[in-house]
Amino acid sequence: MGITAPLSLLDYETYGGWQGLRRALALSPDAIVQEVLDSGLRGRGGAAFPAGIKWRTVAQASAAQKYIVCNADEGDSGTYSDRMTLEGDPFMLIEGMLIAGLAVAATKGYIYIRSEYPHAIASLVKAIALARHAGFLGPNVCGSGKAFELEVRKAAGAYVCGEETAMLESIEGRRGIVRAKPPLPALQGLFSQPTVINNVITLASVPLILAQGSSFYRDYGMGRSRGTLPFQLGGNIRHGGLVEKAFGLTLRELLYDFGGGSRSGRPIKTVQVGGPLGAYVPESQWDLPMDYEAYTAIGAALGHGGIVVHDDSADMAQLARYAMEFCALESCGKCTPCRIGSTRGVEVIDRIIRDQHRSQQLVLLQDLCDTMVHGSLCAMGSMTPMPVLSALKHYPADFGIAPPRPQAA
Ligand SMILES: Cc1cc2nc3c(=O)[nH]c(=O)nc-3n(C[C@H](O)[C@H](O)[C@H](O)COP(=O)(O)O)c2cc1C
Ligand code: SF4
Repeated sequence: MGITAPLSLLDYETYGGWQGLRRALALSPDAIVQEVLDSGLRGRGGAAFPAGIKWRTVAQASAAQKYIVCNADEGDSGTYSDRMTLEGDPFMLIEGMLIAGLAVAATKGYIYIRSEYPHAIASLVKAIALARHAGFLGPNVCGSGKAFELEVRKAAGAYVCGEETAMLESIEGRRGIVRAKPPLPALQGLFSQPTVINNVITLASVPLILAQGSSFYRDYGMGRSRGTLPFQLGGNIRHGGLVEKAFGLTLRELLYDFGGGSRSGRPIKTVQVGGPLGAYVPESQWDLPMDYEAYTAIGAALGHGGIVVHDDSADMAQLARYAMEFCALESCGKCTPCRIGSTRGVEVIDRIIRDQHRSQQLVLLQDLCDTMVHGSLCAMGSMTPMPVLSALKHYPADFGIAPPRPQAA
């Protein structure tokens, strides 16, 4: 990306494009799935579920029609790696979706792109037309006798439509309301047929895995987090931008070696990692190697790799309030802990800020967060407490809570 002209098929081919597809066409569907399993690739949209396991489930399901759906809703604050991929290297995504189609015997794919991304939509629509004209898409992919078609769907503009089942509802032409699981979309997804749903970056990683082999990809990363993640630096940072690195680097390296510190020149106070439902990470945790498990262990999440920086003027009680307000605005409304809980959450945090029965309200806030975590139908409601509780835990003074007194010797 950045070297090739995004819509030049010649450039794409010259820089290794279609090699993964050509290898996949020579492999059995099982062998393609095995390659993705062996690579250790996990979903980059947030939940980090192993892509190969999802593909295997769809591959083993029997149905006359199966689908590949690419989630390009990219609603997380401070994230733009999907957009950059769609605008800067659209054939890479098309190739990844073609390989997914061969692996699970799906002949049709949809790409659900947020409507706020007009350039990405235009770029992908053109790329699909060019790929079709060149014989990569259509009834006879590269003369193999296998069919694969792609269609772009403009998203409806709601954060919750990025949740995979709400996205399916939206593609089918209904309101974006979350579906209960089971059934898993892998077995009954789009139009009730077996469906692979993956994020743009997950699918765009697949051509390289097939072209270079699973062990090449697996060699990057640490622990169970293999490969690379395009971290996206944003907010109050001097050099915002996308930094693609193997898992295992630290937040401090990202903030200072790549980001150059805060844009305001003031000390960095906190960093929200993983979008609006991600935790606020304090400086004491900036030296932790970034991988999915390490972040889960500290009550945080890497999510889609968004890094939003705040300097010392940030008021963490206001940011916690904003998390609840965001959930109240974006909730699909299907379940009570999220729909009602988020509105009550704003009110409770307001009372804490105003010092109105603060100690009782703090207990209530913990209780409310507990209910949202355990009682919500999807991650919108169950993860909203993450930014709230991390702000409360690491920055109690901003909530008017006195720091604990030092112990007498
Ligand atoms: C409220 C909410 C919003 C989401 N938004 C997105 C999104 O914009 N893009 C995305 O890829 N995944 C999003 N997800 C995650 C998807 O539900 C799903 O896990 C993902 O698309 C699966 O692809 P992956 O396994 O490749 O990550 C969201 C989840 C929730 C709960
Ligand atoms: S948690 Fe929120 S967004 Fe998810 S199903 Fe319940 S109401 Fe809808």
